[in-house]
Amino acid sequence: MIKQIVLVLIVSVLFLGCNYKENEDQQLKKIVNESLELATRQSLLMAESLSDKPTRLPQTINKKGNLVTCNSAWWVSGFFPGVLWYLYENNPTDSLKYWAENYTLRVEDQKYTTDNHDVGFMIFCSFGNAFRITGNSKYKEVIHTASNSLMTRFNPTVGCIRSWDYKPWSAKWQYPVIIDNLMNLEMLEWTAKAFHDDKYSDVAESHANKTLQNHFREDFSSYHVVSYDTITGAVEKRNTSQGYSDESAWARGQAWALYGYTMMYRETGLADYLKQARGIADFILNHPKLPADKVPYWDFDAPDIPNAKRDASAAAIICSALIELSDFVSEDDSSSTYLKAAKDMIRSLSSPEYRAELGTNGNFILMHSVGHMPNGSEVDVPLSYADYYYVEALMRMKKRLSAQN
Ligand code: GLY
Repeated sequence: MIKQIVLVLIVSVLFLGCNYKENEDQQLKKIVNESLELATRQSLLMAESLSDKPTRLPQTINKKGNLVTCNSAWWVSGFFPGVLWYLYENNPTDSLKYWAENYTLRVEDQKYTTDNHDVGFMIFCSFGNAFRITGNSKYKEVIHTASNSLMTRFNPTVGCIRSWDYKPWSAKWQYPVIIDNLMNLEMLEWTAKAFHDDKYSDVAESHANKTLQNHFREDFSSYHVVSYDTITGAVEKRNTSQGYSDESAWARGQAWALYGYTMMYRETGLADYLKQARGIADFILNHPKLPADKVPYWDFDAPDIPNAKRDASAAAIICSALIELSDFVSEDDSSSTYLKAAKDMIRSLSSPEYRAELGTNGNFILMHSVGHMPNGSEVDVPLSYADYYYVEALMRMKKRLSAQN
């Protein structure tokens, strides 16, 4: 009799547990769909607001709450076109396609950029998504040209792509490489496959390997800037530019690192990259200063925590990366931990605390990101890249939830 009661209890608990998870996922699905709908309406307002300024792209807002735009040469130029392509992929309407093409073409001249590493961000978030979604070959050639431009910044002695050129503010570094630079490697990996030419992936993997060797501390946290000696290829300095201090863990830097090695594992299947991504994910998710809503402070070592500003852009990048990473590891290896953290982040970012009301926030989707705290610029504002990785995360989560049901 007792055995039967225990059995009934176990079956009931399992049944209730499954039902609870199903309900949770149904609720999340609703949040994802509502957020994509809101993002679409908000982004169309943004697109229309710049219809008479055909060379401008959304960047942030100023202290008065007015839209700040940039030209194609600023590193964030490709993100808004990318947002429009993701939203078009979700809901293929004529107006989304019209604006996605319109804003993508605004960035095309950057395919010739050779004076910084951001050409990958600019061209692959815009033209990369355009090609992935439409298959139109005119976009493919733009990406090829941009990859050739990026390749000019590779120095074989150092084994990395140079991030910043020599400027008065960067004069203290011989050959600065920033952790963000990993993100540009996706375009090279794509070009290697699309044009059957290993020279692009050789450079990407050299950069990723050298960064893995030199950019990380034992706890898998990352430096922001590592500068190399151009004669010996050895590390010259380890510093920060956008973080709190040289030895701190700048939140967006950790986000780029996580996303970068997850993406490099997807592209190459190399186990070292997966191990690195998992180490970084565990550093972030187990960090004692990660807030309960999982939206990081702008630097994990900011001295004024818990009053420090949050960085929604870091959360969006981490969230998108964790969804992908959860697919690459088994249940024993934290797959559900990564996915659960990503779900928590989507819930937080989609709450009124971070997601703006329609027609507010300069027509950006998310509030509360930090661009460059040490310079005092873009502090606690919307940023086009926060929106890009948030929308990407929504799309990834939508696919993941549909695959489950
Ligand atoms: N790549 C520049 C930044 O993350 O702010």
